[in-house]
Amino acid sequence: MDELILIQPDDWHLHLRDGDALATTVPAAARCFGRSIVMPNVVPPATTVEQARDYYERILKHRPAGSDWLPLMVLYLTDNTSPEEIRQAKASGLVFGCKYYPAGATTNSDSGVTDLSRMDAVFAAMEEVGMVLQMHGEVTDEDIDIFDREAVFIERHLGHIAERFPNLKIVFEHITTEQGVNFVRASSQNIAATITPQHLLYNRNDMLVGGIRPHLFCLPILKRSRHQQALIDAAVSGEQKFFLGTDSAPHAQDTKETACGCAGCYSHHAALELYAEVFDEAGALDRFEAFASKNGADFYGVEYNTNTVTLRREPWSLPDQVAFAGTQMVPLAAGEVLNWRFIA
Ligand code: DOR
Ligand code: ZN
Repeated sequence: MDELILIQPDDWHLHLRDGDALATTVPAAARCFGRSIVMPNVVPPATTVEQARDYYERILKHRPAGSDWLPLMVLYLTDNTSPEEIRQAKASGLVFGCKYYPAGATTNSDSGVTDLSRMDAVFAAMEEVGMVLQMHGEVTDEDIDIFDREAVFIERHLGHIAERFPNLKIVFEHITTEQGVNFVRASSQNIAATITPQHLLYNRNDMLVGGIRPHLFCLPILKRSRHQQALIDAAVSGEQKFFLGTDSAPHAQDTKETACGCAGCYSHHAALELYAEVFDEAGALDRFEAFASKNGADFYGVEYNTNTVTLRREPWSLPDQVAFAGTQMVPLAAGEVLNWRFIA
């Protein structure tokens, strides 16, 4: 197979940032995706419907002419989010989910939730109105090893939340472990997961053996190869519960190549193509469309996109750098050769 035609895919987890960054990130998203779930960890975070709407307007100013790509907005949950805000978010028609960040877990998460047990009224409102909860599923307790943060979160929290709010739709975002895959598989139809290209293509050896590769540092952190394989199996299975969410998260090169580097991998220079490599390698190109273009739309309860995209088997080299907000960043798999290329 040398040409792949897919229903236009969507990205169910994306960081566009704000201000000057939008001139890079919005056209990159619109390049091949129909819609993108836009994460709200901007500065200040988008915690209210009004802030989400203002952010939406700023984003749309950068949409290329002729494109009908759409940003699907998300509210950032804090200790102070009210059930009323959830109802307004649902009524707005603009907000497609609410993001749970444990306070301090990752980039711009300082205003996140400090105590999950205080979120009952908010989760109940989300369950009632049918608002998706997007979960950054990691604990931040100091005594928990960073490589165990996701598995411990499942044991201590996620199982209980799923039990107590059985009708709440939860996307376990950017899963990174075998335990995450198993949990999602064993759960009801209301629990699904996004999987990033970096967690499919790499494991912690790629990041740490022979020297530290800061551009592979993201959160949740890359795990051992057993977990990478479990994620590949889940993604290429075609199962409805797993779908594309790049977590493309731009950071300027100098903020990653430093003594205390930021977490995040930028993949929107070649997002679809990077995933295509994984499916090709696994002999599962026939299941790529389910993962990229159908499963997420089904979970969020929206129609599939009506147009198609074409990928061709045609080797090309990824750039070493991408211009970004007056400086540059080093994208995922910089300088590597990919076999699949997005044509139109
Ligand atoms: O690696 C990450 N980067 N993980 C996140 O959860 C946030 C993201 C970012 O915003 O940079
Ligand atoms: Zn993210």
